Amino acid sequence: MSFCRLICEGIQGNSWFDQALREACKGIGFTYPNPPVGCVVVKDNQLIATGYHAKAGELHAEAKALLEAGETALGSTLYVTLEPCNHFGRTPPCTQEIIKAGVKRVIYGVADPNPHVTGHGAQVLREAGIEVHAISHPDAEALIQPFTKFIRHKKPYVIAKIATSLDGKIAFKPGEQTQMTGPDSRRRVHRMREACDAVLVGSETVLVDNPQLTARFDDRPAQRQPARIVLDRRHRTNPTHQVYAKDSVPSYCISSLDELDSLGFMSVLVEGGGQVLTSFLEQNRVDELAWFTAPILLGNQGVPAIGNLSKPLKLSGGADFLTLSSCQAA
Ligand SMILES: NC(=O)c1ccc[n+]([C@@H]2O[C@H](COP(=O)([O-])OP(=O)(O)OC[C@H]3O[C@@H](n4cnc5c(N)ncnc54)[C@H](OP(=O)(O)O)[C@@H]3O)[C@@H](O)[C@H]2O)c1
Repeated sequence: MSFCRLICEGIQGNSWFDQALREACKGIGFTYPNPPVGCVVVKDNQLIATGYHAKAGELHAEAKALLEAGETALGSTLYVTLEPCNHFGRTPPCTQEIIKAGVKRVIYGVADPNPHVTGHGAQVLREAGIEVHAISHPDAEALIQPFTKFIRHKKPYVIAKIATSLDGKIAFKPGEQTQMTGPDSRRRVHRMREACDAVLVGSETVLVDNPQLTARFDDRPAQRQPARIVLDRRHRTNPTHQVYAKDSVPSYCISSLDELDSLGFMSVLVEGGGQVLTSFLEQNRVDELAWFTAPILLGNQGVPAIGNLSKPLKLSGGADFLTLSSCQAA
Protein backbone atom coordinates (compact mmCIF):
# COMPACT_ATOMS: atom_id res chain seq x y z
CA MET A 1 0.00 0.00 0.00
CA SER A 2 1.15 3.54 -0.74
CA PHE A 3 -0.20 6.93 0.31
CA CYS A 4 -1.54 7.55 -3.17
CA ARG A 5 -3.36 4.25 -3.39
CA LEU A 6 -4.76 4.74 0.11
CA ILE A 7 -6.26 8.13 -0.72
CA CYS A 8 -7.65 6.93 -4.05
CA GLU A 9 -9.05 3.61 -2.91
CA GLY A 10 -9.77 4.18 0.80
CA ILE A 11 -9.80 1.53 3.54
CA GLN A 12 -11.65 -1.62 2.52
CA GLY A 13 -11.65 -3.87 5.62
CA ASN A 14 -13.91 -3.78 8.65
CA SER A 15 -11.71 -4.74 11.59
CA TRP A 16 -11.46 -2.37 14.56
CA PHE A 17 -8.10 -1.24 13.25
CA ASP A 18 -9.58 -0.57 9.79
CA GLN A 19 -12.16 1.63 11.50
CA ALA A 20 -9.37 3.57 13.21
CA LEU A 21 -7.71 3.99 9.80
CA ARG A 22 -10.98 5.20 8.30
CA GLU A 23 -11.20 7.80 11.08
CA ALA A 24 -7.64 8.93 10.34
CA CYS A 25 -8.43 9.37 6.64
CA LYS A 26 -10.94 12.11 7.56
CA GLY A 27 -7.99 14.28 8.58
CA ILE A 28 -5.84 13.81 5.45
CA GLY A 29 -4.80 17.19 4.09
CA PHE A 30 -5.94 19.16 7.15
CA THR A 31 -3.43 18.29 9.87
CA TYR A 32 -0.22 20.02 8.68
CA PRO A 33 2.38 19.91 10.21
CA ASN A 34 1.00 16.92 12.11
CA PRO A 35 0.12 13.52 10.61
CA PRO A 36 -3.46 12.30 10.21
CA VAL A 37 -4.33 9.95 13.11
CA GLY A 38 -7.47 7.94 13.88
CA CYS A 39 -8.63 6.05 16.95
CA VAL A 40 -11.46 3.80 18.12
CA VAL A 41 -12.24 2.70 21.68
CA VAL A 42 -13.70 -0.80 22.05
CA LYS A 43 -15.07 -2.64 25.10
CA ASP A 44 -16.73 -6.07 25.28
CA ASN A 45 -16.40 -6.16 21.49
CA GLN A 46 -18.58 -3.03 21.20
CA LEU A 47 -17.52 0.29 19.68
CA ILE A 48 -17.62 2.93 22.39
CA ALA A 49 -16.09 5.98 20.76
CA THR A 50 -14.17 7.23 17.74
CA GLY A 51 -11.85 10.17 17.14
CA TYR A 52 -9.50 11.67 14.60
CA HIS A 53 -7.03 14.51 14.56
CA ALA A 54 -8.76 17.24 12.58
CA LYS A 55 -6.25 20.09 12.69
CA ALA A 56 -2.94 21.07 14.36
CA GLY A 57 -3.68 22.63 17.74
CA GLU A 58 -6.94 20.68 18.13
CA LEU A 59 -7.37 17.50 20.18
CA HIS A 60 -5.40 14.43 19.14
CA ALA A 61 -7.39 11.38 17.99
CA GLU A 62 -6.95 9.49 21.28
CA ALA A 63 -7.94 12.46 23.44
CA LYS A 64 -11.01 13.10 21.30
CA ALA A 65 -12.15 9.46 21.44
CA LEU A 66 -11.51 9.20 25.18
CA LEU A 67 -13.48 12.39 25.79
CA GLU A 68 -16.40 10.86 23.93
CA ALA A 69 -16.02 7.53 25.79
CA GLY A 70 -15.95 9.16 29.25
CA GLU A 71 -16.01 6.68 32.15
CA THR A 72 -16.85 3.75 29.86
CA ALA A 73 -13.22 3.83 28.66
CA LEU A 74 -12.25 2.02 31.90
CA GLY A 75 -10.96 -1.46 30.95
CA SER A 76 -11.28 -0.79 27.21
CA THR A 77 -9.01 -1.48 24.24
CA LEU A 78 -7.82 1.53 22.25
CA TYR A 79 -6.92 1.08 18.58
CA VAL A 80 -4.88 3.98 17.24
CA THR A 81 -3.11 4.34 13.90
CA LEU A 82 0.03 6.01 15.33
CA GLU A 83 1.96 5.45 18.56
CA PRO A 84 0.44 7.75 21.22
CA CYS A 85 2.57 10.82 21.88
CA ASN A 86 4.32 11.37 25.18
CA HIS A 87 5.31 15.01 24.83
CA PHE A 88 3.74 18.39 25.41
CA GLY A 89 3.07 20.17 22.14
CA ARG A 90 0.08 22.37 21.57
CA THR A 91 -1.92 19.72 23.48
CA PRO A 92 -0.98 17.53 26.51
CA PRO A 93 0.54 14.04 25.99
CA CYS A 94 -1.98 11.41 24.88
CA THR A 95 -0.24 8.82 27.07
CA GLN A 96 -1.46 10.66 30.18
CA GLU A 97 -5.06 10.76 28.88
CA ILE A 98 -4.92 7.01 28.17
CA ILE A 99 -3.53 6.18 31.62
CA LYS A 100 -6.04 8.50 33.34
CA ALA A 101 -8.97 6.93 31.48
CA GLY A 102 -8.03 3.42 32.71
CA VAL A 103 -7.56 1.90 29.25
CA LYS A 104 -6.46 -1.74 29.55
CA ARG A 105 -4.88 -2.36 26.14
CA VAL A 106 -3.45 -0.18 23.37
CA ILE A 107 -2.94 -1.44 19.83
CA TYR A 108 -1.13 0.99 17.53
CA GLY A 109 -0.34 0.75 13.83
CA VAL A 110 3.04 2.38 13.49
CA ALA A 111 5.73 3.88 15.73
CA ASP A 112 6.20 7.62 15.72
CA PRO A 113 8.67 8.25 12.83
CA ASN A 114 10.35 11.11 14.67
CA PRO A 115 13.63 9.50 15.87
CA HIS A 116 13.60 11.71 18.97
CA VAL A 117 10.29 10.32 20.24
CA THR A 118 9.99 6.81 18.72
CA GLY A 119 9.03 4.26 21.34
CA HIS A 120 8.64 6.76 24.19
CA GLY A 121 4.84 6.67 24.18
CA ALA A 122 4.74 2.86 24.18
CA GLN A 123 7.28 2.68 26.99
CA VAL A 124 5.36 5.07 29.27
CA LEU A 125 2.12 3.15 28.71
CA ARG A 126 3.82 -0.18 29.50
CA GLU A 127 5.35 1.29 32.65
CA ALA A 128 1.82 2.27 33.71
CA GLY A 129 0.77 -1.40 33.40
CA ILE A 130 -1.06 -1.10 30.08
CA GLU A 131 -0.77 -3.94 27.57
CA VAL A 132 0.72 -2.44 24.39
CA HIS A 133 0.93 -4.01 20.93
CA ALA A 134 2.69 -2.38 17.95
CA ILE A 135 1.36 -4.11 14.85
CA SER A 136 3.38 -2.42 12.03
CA HIS A 137 0.31 -2.08 9.83
CA PRO A 138 1.17 -1.26 6.16
CA ASP A 139 -1.84 1.04 5.74
CA ALA A 140 -0.90 2.95 8.90
CA GLU A 141 2.59 3.40 7.47
CA ALA A 142 1.21 4.53 4.10
CA LEU A 143 -1.11 7.02 5.79
CA ILE A 144 1.78 8.97 7.29
CA GLN A 145 4.34 8.65 4.46
CA PRO A 146 4.33 12.43 3.80
CA PHE A 147 4.78 13.17 7.51
CA THR A 148 7.58 10.58 7.81
CA LYS A 149 9.50 12.07 4.88
CA PHE A 150 8.99 15.62 6.11
CA ILE A 151 10.00 14.92 9.71
CA ARG A 152 13.10 12.94 8.73
CA HIS A 153 14.36 14.89 5.69
CA LYS A 154 12.69 18.33 5.91
CA LYS A 155 11.56 17.86 2.32
CA PRO A 156 8.09 17.32 0.84
CA TYR A 157 6.82 13.86 -0.04
CA VAL A 158 6.52 13.90 -3.84
CA ILE A 159 3.87 12.03 -5.80
CA ALA A 160 4.51 12.32 -9.52
CA LYS A 161 1.46 11.74 -11.67
CA ILE A 162 1.64 11.33 -15.40
CA ALA A 163 -0.79 10.10 -18.06
CA THR A 164 0.74 8.63 -21.17
CA SER A 165 -0.17 6.91 -24.39
CA LEU A 166 0.91 3.31 -24.79
CA ASP A 167 4.02 4.62 -26.58
CA GLY A 168 4.98 6.86 -23.66
CA LYS A 169 3.89 10.28 -24.98
CA ILE A 170 2.05 12.95 -23.02
CA ALA A 171 0.76 15.07 -25.93
CA PHE A 172 0.29 14.55 -29.68
CA LYS A 173 2.62 17.47 -30.63
CA PRO A 174 4.64 20.13 -28.80
CA GLY A 175 2.37 23.08 -27.98
CA GLU A 176 -0.76 20.93 -27.92
CA GLN A 177 -2.90 19.51 -25.15
CA THR A 178 -4.11 15.94 -25.64
CA GLN A 179 -6.89 14.57 -23.45
CA MET A 180 -5.94 11.02 -22.65
CA THR A 181 -7.58 9.56 -19.58
CA GLY A 182 -11.22 8.97 -18.70
CA PRO A 183 -13.46 10.00 -15.78
CA ASP A 184 -12.21 7.32 -13.38
CA SER A 185 -8.56 8.33 -13.59
CA ARG A 186 -9.47 12.04 -13.59
CA ARG A 187 -11.40 11.51 -10.38
CA ARG A 188 -8.35 9.85 -8.82
CA VAL A 189 -6.14 12.75 -9.82
CA HIS A 190 -8.57 15.26 -8.30
CA ARG A 191 -8.64 13.17 -5.12
CA MET A 192 -4.81 13.35 -5.07
CA ARG A 193 -5.01 17.15 -5.46
CA GLU A 194 -7.49 17.33 -2.60
CA ALA A 195 -5.17 15.32 -0.32
CA CYS A 196 -1.85 17.04 -1.14
CA ASP A 197 -0.61 20.35 0.22
CA ALA A 198 0.41 21.60 -3.22
CA VAL A 199 0.29 20.75 -6.93
CA LEU A 200 3.25 21.59 -9.16
CA VAL A 201 3.61 21.87 -12.96
CA GLY A 202 6.21 23.17 -15.42
CA SER A 203 5.92 26.48 -17.23
CA GLU A 204 5.29 24.79 -20.59
CA THR A 205 2.24 23.00 -19.19
CA VAL A 206 0.88 26.35 -17.97
CA LEU A 207 1.50 27.97 -21.37
CA VAL A 208 -0.10 25.10 -23.31
CA ASP A 209 -2.89 23.83 -21.03
CA ASN A 210 -3.56 26.87 -18.79
CA PRO A 211 -4.75 24.49 -16.00
CA GLN A 212 -6.58 25.60 -12.85
CA LEU A 213 -4.93 22.87 -10.74
CA THR A 214 -7.89 22.84 -8.37
CA ALA A 215 -9.65 19.75 -6.98
CA ARG A 216 -13.09 19.36 -8.58
CA PHE A 217 -15.68 16.59 -8.39
CA ASP A 218 -18.99 16.10 -10.23
CA ASP A 219 -20.87 14.78 -7.22
CA ARG A 220 -19.52 16.78 -4.27
CA PRO A 221 -17.62 19.94 -3.43
CA ALA A 222 -13.89 19.50 -2.78
CA GLN A 223 -13.08 19.47 0.93
CA ARG A 224 -9.97 21.57 0.41
CA GLN A 225 -7.77 23.03 -2.32
CA PRO A 226 -4.00 22.61 -2.72
CA ALA A 227 -1.59 25.49 -3.19
CA ARG A 228 -0.31 25.81 -6.79
CA ILE A 229 3.32 25.95 -7.85
CA VAL A 230 4.86 26.62 -11.27
CA LEU A 231 8.50 25.78 -12.08
CA ASP A 232 9.37 28.66 -14.37
CA ARG A 233 13.01 29.73 -14.48
CA ARG A 234 12.54 32.14 -17.39
CA HIS A 235 9.32 33.73 -16.07
CA ARG A 236 7.33 32.92 -19.16
CA THR A 237 4.06 32.53 -17.23
CA ASN A 238 2.11 35.59 -16.08
CA PRO A 239 -0.72 36.55 -13.68
CA THR A 240 -3.40 36.05 -16.35
CA HIS A 241 -2.80 32.26 -16.23
CA GLN A 242 -5.43 30.39 -14.23
CA VAL A 243 -2.92 28.90 -11.75
CA TYR A 244 -2.36 32.41 -10.40
CA ALA A 245 -6.07 33.06 -9.76
CA LYS A 246 -6.54 35.21 -6.68
CA ASP A 247 -8.58 32.90 -4.47
CA SER A 248 -8.33 31.23 -1.07
CA VAL A 249 -5.11 29.30 -1.81
CA PRO A 250 -1.68 30.72 -2.65
CA SER A 251 0.20 30.31 -5.94
CA TYR A 252 3.98 30.30 -6.30
CA CYS A 253 6.31 30.75 -9.24
CA ILE A 254 9.69 29.15 -8.45
CA SER A 255 12.97 28.45 -10.25
CA SER A 256 14.39 25.33 -8.60
CA LEU A 257 13.65 22.25 -6.54
CA ASP A 258 15.58 23.79 -3.62
CA GLU A 259 13.11 26.64 -3.67
CA LEU A 260 10.34 24.05 -3.48
CA ASP A 261 11.84 22.65 -0.27
CA SER A 262 11.95 26.10 1.28
CA LEU A 263 8.17 26.51 0.82
CA GLY A 264 7.76 23.97 3.63
CA PHE A 265 5.03 21.76 2.16
CA MET A 266 4.64 18.23 3.52
CA SER A 267 3.23 16.71 0.29
CA VAL A 268 3.44 17.84 -3.33
CA LEU A 269 1.68 16.36 -6.36
CA VAL A 270 3.86 16.87 -9.45
CA GLU A 271 1.64 16.84 -12.54
CA GLY A 272 4.21 17.23 -15.29
CA GLY A 273 4.91 17.84 -18.03
CA GLY A 274 7.70 15.60 -19.22
CA GLN A 275 10.61 17.94 -18.55
CA VAL A 276 9.51 18.52 -14.98
CA LEU A 277 8.89 14.82 -14.37
CA THR A 278 12.36 14.05 -15.76
CA SER A 279 13.94 16.67 -13.47
CA PHE A 280 12.31 15.17 -10.40
CA LEU A 281 13.26 11.62 -11.38
CA GLU A 282 16.87 12.55 -12.24
CA GLN A 283 17.26 14.31 -8.90
CA ASN A 284 15.82 11.30 -7.09
CA ARG A 285 12.95 13.38 -5.75
CA VAL A 286 9.99 11.10 -6.56
CA ASP A 287 8.56 9.10 -3.67
CA GLU A 288 5.61 7.67 -5.57
CA LEU A 289 4.87 7.46 -9.24
CA ALA A 290 1.22 7.37 -10.31
CA TRP A 291 1.47 6.38 -13.95
CA PHE A 292 -1.77 6.28 -15.93
CA THR A 293 -1.65 4.57 -19.30
CA ALA A 294 -4.33 5.29 -21.90
CA PRO A 295 -5.12 2.99 -24.86
CA ILE A 296 -3.95 5.46 -27.48
CA LEU A 297 -0.84 5.76 -29.66
CA LEU A 298 0.60 9.23 -30.32
CA GLY A 299 3.62 8.55 -32.51
CA ASN A 300 7.14 9.81 -32.74
CA GLN A 301 6.31 13.53 -33.01
CA GLY A 302 4.56 13.32 -29.62
CA VAL A 303 5.90 14.99 -26.45
CA PRO A 304 7.84 12.37 -24.44
CA ALA A 305 6.90 11.64 -20.83
CA ILE A 306 10.57 11.21 -20.03
CA GLY A 307 13.32 13.29 -21.62
CA ASN A 308 17.05 12.50 -21.74
CA LEU A 309 18.37 10.65 -18.71
CA SER A 310 21.98 10.54 -17.52
CA LYS A 311 21.64 6.81 -16.82
CA PRO A 312 18.96 4.10 -16.84
CA LEU A 313 16.59 4.70 -13.96
CA LYS A 314 15.46 1.58 -12.17
CA LEU A 315 12.45 2.34 -9.99
CA SER A 316 12.03 0.51 -6.75
CA GLY A 317 11.19 0.99 -3.10
CA GLY A 318 8.46 3.58 -2.69
CA ALA A 319 7.63 3.89 -6.38
CA ASP A 320 4.06 2.76 -6.93
CA PHE A 321 2.48 2.03 -10.27
CA LEU A 322 -1.13 2.79 -10.92
CA THR A 323 -1.87 1.53 -14.39
CA LEU A 324 -5.46 1.92 -15.43
CA SER A 325 -6.04 -0.17 -18.50
CA SER A 326 -9.71 0.84 -18.49
CA CYS A 327 -8.89 4.46 -19.40
CA GLN A 328 -10.54 5.63 -22.59
CA ALA A 329 -8.93 7.68 -25.32
CA ALA A 330 -10.95 10.87 -25.85
N1 LIG B 1 -0.31 13.70 -20.07
C1 LIG B 1 0.01 14.33 -18.96
O1 LIG B 1 -0.06 13.76 -17.86
C2 LIG B 1 0.46 15.76 -19.04
C3 LIG B 1 0.66 16.48 -17.87
C4 LIG B 1 1.13 17.79 -17.96
C5 LIG B 1 1.40 18.33 -19.19
N2 LIG B 1 1.16 17.61 -20.31
C6 LIG B 1 1.52 18.15 -21.65
O2 LIG B 1 2.94 18.25 -21.64
C7 LIG B 1 3.35 19.32 -22.47
C8 LIG B 1 4.33 20.16 -21.68
O3 LIG B 1 5.35 19.35 -21.16
P1 LIG B 1 6.90 19.71 -21.37
O4 LIG B 1 7.68 18.51 -21.00
O5 LIG B 1 7.05 20.27 -22.72
O6 LIG B 1 7.14 20.93 -20.36
P2 LIG B 1 6.91 21.09 -18.78
O7 LIG B 1 7.61 20.00 -18.07
O8 LIG B 1 5.48 21.35 -18.49
O9 LIG B 1 7.66 22.49 -18.53
C9 LIG B 1 8.99 22.62 -18.86
C10 LIG B 1 9.58 23.83 -18.16
O10 LIG B 1 9.61 23.63 -16.76
C11 LIG B 1 10.74 24.27 -16.21
N3 LIG B 1 11.54 23.29 -15.49
C12 LIG B 1 11.63 21.96 -15.70
N4 LIG B 1 12.50 21.41 -14.84
C13 LIG B 1 12.96 22.41 -14.06
C14 LIG B 1 13.86 22.48 -12.97
N5 LIG B 1 14.48 21.40 -12.50
N6 LIG B 1 14.10 23.69 -12.43
C15 LIG B 1 13.49 24.76 -12.89
N7 LIG B 1 12.61 24.77 -13.92
C16 LIG B 1 12.35 23.61 -14.48
C17 LIG B 1 11.54 24.83 -17.36
O11 LIG B 1 11.24 26.19 -17.40
P3 LIG B 1 12.25 27.24 -18.07
O12 LIG B 1 12.08 27.02 -19.51
O13 LIG B 1 11.80 28.56 -17.58
O14 LIG B 1 13.64 26.87 -17.60
C18 LIG B 1 11.01 24.08 -18.55
O15 LIG B 1 11.06 24.81 -19.76
C19 LIG B 1 2.10 20.02 -22.90
O16 LIG B 1 1.79 19.59 -24.21
C20 LIG B 1 1.04 19.53 -21.95
O17 LIG B 1 -0.24 19.53 -22.56
C21 LIG B 1 0.71 16.34 -20.26
